[in-house]
Amino acid sequence: MGKLDLSTAANRDDGYIPASASLYSGISRHDFPEDFLWGIATSAAQIEGAAFEDGKGLEIWDVFSRIPGRTFGGQTPDLACDYYHKYPEQLAMMKELGFNSHRFSFSWARIIPDGTGPVNQKGLDFYRRAVDKMLELGLTPNATLYHWDLPQGLEDRGGFLNRDVVNWYGEYATLLFETFKNEIPLWVTFNEPIATYVGYALGAFAPGRRLEKFGRQANHNLLLAHGEGVRRFRDVFGEKKPYDLSHANIGIVVDIWHHHPARPDNPDDVRIAELENEKAYRSYLNPVFKGCYTDALLKYMEETGSMPEIRPGDMESICEPLDFFGLNCYNRVVDSAEPSAVKEEIEFRGGNYMDNGQEFYPEAIYDALHNLRDNYFTDIPVIITENGTFNCGETPVPDENGYMRVHDTTRIRYLHGFLTCLKKAIDDGFDVRGYNVWTLLDNFEWPAAYSYKFGLVKTEPGAPGENPYVKKDSAFWFKRFLE
Ligand code: FCB
Repeated sequence: MGKLDLSTAANRDDGYIPASASLYSGISRHDFPEDFLWGIATSAAQIEGAAFEDGKGLEIWDVFSRIPGRTFGGQTPDLACDYYHKYPEQLAMMKELGFNSHRFSFSWARIIPDGTGPVNQKGLDFYRRAVDKMLELGLTPNATLYHWDLPQGLEDRGGFLNRDVVNWYGEYATLLFETFKNEIPLWVTFNEPIATYVGYALGAFAPGRRLEKFGRQANHNLLLAHGEGVRRFRDVFGEKKPYDLSHANIGIVVDIWHHHPARPDNPDDVRIAELENEKAYRSYLNPVFKGCYTDALLKYMEETGSMPEIRPGDMESICEPLDFFGLNCYNRVVDSAEPSAVKEEIEFRGGNYMDNGQEFYPEAIYDALHNLRDNYFTDIPVIITENGTFNCGETPVPDENGYMRVHDTTRIRYLHGFLTCLKKAIDDGFDVRGYNVWTLLDNFEWPAAYSYKFGLVKTEPGAPGENPYVKKDSAFWFKRFLE
């Protein structure tokens, strides 16, 4: 793909209001609590680039993306959005759009190149500069320790299949807690544990292994590492206190893609959806909040010969009390033994497909909060740690002044819908303290690499050199929402 020629157009936003804004109005930040956190979420491997710079070690996506056929067009995260060099302007863009928080992740391999052993001071210094910049701009840092990018050096030692990962992770976590003790009020142990299952059982994510038993064992060890991370946190920050931004707080991020049976009275549909819910999120939420796997998951693991090694005391050590919960919510899933029933269910609700072929179902966020409150906890707040959508008509077109515009109206509709349902949940008494949109820039979207565009701002990730930033209509919409 050639470079976008946007030299006459980039960032012309003086007074620009997308035509679609009037369609998606009637709600603004003033409908949410005063001290609500409004953030943009990113992750290291997806934006940083600089994969081989300043002493960074390889992480599993550096390696996986080089295996033929594993990512779109063989694209790699080598350059991504070059956040490593351009973080000042990219953070400033968040501020300029009106956000007051930023959820990001640390790259373990940038900090400890082999995963254990010597620390790469240049890596730590980079995060020091970035966090200082966030604070200077008034962006409350919300830091994730692990967002899918295991150091390859650890994968070579078995990765999440090796129970030693608990201690490897613990040491890494302690280093970061101590380094950023006074700067970061929000910490997340792991982002979406299911990605590790996908990487070890289904082969679709790094490291690309393919055995159900590997997936279950990797997940069990990850959950143990999560518990270890929380204990390490308490060692550094002291005993658990109620959630408050005046001190450090810790949580985990799980994505809830709830599976609905297309025909609720059809036993096959119900059975399929129930099993998928076990695999999608109950396998994480149950151990973390209740200290056990569900009977249904145990039965499934028994029947599929995928029972992980669970030692005495494991389940207790996974369910360490948390200070908040991070919810990633993108959509629901409709399941059926009969594919046409899925289509019927979705179309029955109003022909609600988006440009990218996914269902438009903003109630997913309301349902997920209900699910959490009804089944898992009532005593800690929730932060929406990710919400967003992709490929909403991303081709720039010139406006009447010759400025390039991206009319991603479907993204505005999506964000407006989810925020409206989130507001309803808060009005109904759900304790939600923040919302993070995924994401600022088009970036490295895992196997889909640079072909899935999730940004509020268009850029050419993965292309060398100076890339333009073009605010999409959704960026202008969000800016007005936040004003
Ligand atoms: C989430 C991931 C995030 C990004 C978005 C689109 O599941 O946490 O890294 O890929 O999806």
